[in-house]
Amino acid sequence: MDMLKQADTEVYQAIQAEKERQQNQIELIASENYCSSAVLQAQGSVMTNKYAEGYPDKRWYAGCKNVDNVEKLAIKRALDIFGAEHANVQPHSGSSANMAVFFAMLSPGQKILAMDLSHGGHLTHGFEKNFSGQFYQKITYGVKEKTGRIDYDEVMAIAKKNNPDLIIAGASAYPRELDFAKFKEISDEVNALFLADIAHIAGLIVAGLHQDPVPYADFVTTSTHKTLRGPRAGLILCKAKYAAKIDQMVFPGIQGGPLMHVIAAKAVAFKEAKTEEFKEYQRQIIRNAQALSNALKNMGYTLISGGTDNHLFLVDLTNKKLPGIEAQVILEKAGISLNRNMIPFDKGSAFNPSGIRIGTPSVTTRGMKEPEMMQIAEWINLAISNPDEKNLTSIKSKVAKLCSSFPIYKDSL
Ligand SMILES: Cc1ncc(COP(=O)(O)O)c(C=O)c1O
Repeated sequence: MDMLKQADTEVYQAIQAEKERQQNQIELIASENYCSSAVLQAQGSVMTNKYAEGYPDKRWYAGCKNVDNVEKLAIKRALDIFGAEHANVQPHSGSSANMAVFFAMLSPGQKILAMDLSHGGHLTHGFEKNFSGQFYQKITYGVKEKTGRIDYDEVMAIAKKNNPDLIIAGASAYPRELDFAKFKEISDEVNALFLADIAHIAGLIVAGLHQDPVPYADFVTTSTHKTLRGPRAGLILCKAKYAAKIDQMVFPGIQGGPLMHVIAAKAVAFKEAKTEEFKEYQRQIIRNAQALSNALKNMGYTLISGGTDNHLFLVDLTNKKLPGIEAQVILEKAGISLNRNMIPFDKGSAFNPSGIRIGTPSVTTRGMKEPEMMQIAEWINLAISNPDEKNLTSIKSKVAKLCSSFPIYKDSL
């Protein structure tokens, strides 16, 4: 970073400070992760300089031989790890991936059936202030209050009553396995298209630890930076019969020149996802989520659905008489980063929800295992039970000490 240091001290210092924050904090935001040094290098490469509107061997500009090679590699590797018929690796994000599918397949005013935002769904699944809510009618399904789980008979009944044009299975805060086969059955019953948004669980699926949507869904969208541990970006997989429509909607429909440096980084991440080390990493994410959630449960915390099958869980703080936002602020002072979250049937609001969401992809990437999860649970409980500044400062220094034994990047970046 010597060149940056000389050219722009302010940005250099901000990056250094961020590096330090990441190294010294325990990261429990379920949608975050630390990509590898190889992914970072590809993303920080000269491929950012190249305009490559179009697709490999069909570009508008000259000089695309090398970016063509990289995009072909990314596509081949995406198809390989997911076993899909077609892949478009150009979406800039998970949101753009969803936008491309909606715009390619639906007309304005058509109906989407998706998970309620307050039950764990995502903004791009029909939230009124998002493009998806502005262009399409949203119908929702949720979880059962008693179980915290999706009731598939109820989803079927809602689908039959409303005849949606597209059904979405996917969530930002659902701790249980999604039954994609069941969603396919429901979609077929009402003649709807079926989109699986696996933004959160893509890594688990690649490792064979979560039911695979690819055989069932017409479209699978994902972000590439969560459990998949790649660069911040998106990906669309689909059946071959939709390939042309999807490709045309990504470019020239909703995007211009692809971010070739990010596509190069996606290719690297997809190669990493093929390794045995990656599969073991995904197994450990789940073991850590179970260890951390069980430890908190044993300390009297209420978990939505009673636990987790995946990389995240939701804590209902109602019995602790502590709003989610306050827990988030207290824990950040103790060096633990997570987010407030709505819980199903929340009596609070999106800004002042009753819960917190906890995920283990990041702590697992840095090598933490079950003993560290027990320690983190203790610190969370200690901070929440006694949030005075002295106590929080003391926990923060212990957190930093633990973190120093688990360096995120072993090489100097
Ligand atoms: C289920 C789901 N879909 C889509 C997205 C959007 O991804 P991005 O932030 O890359 O636009 C997210 C992000 O959190 C998500 O959780």
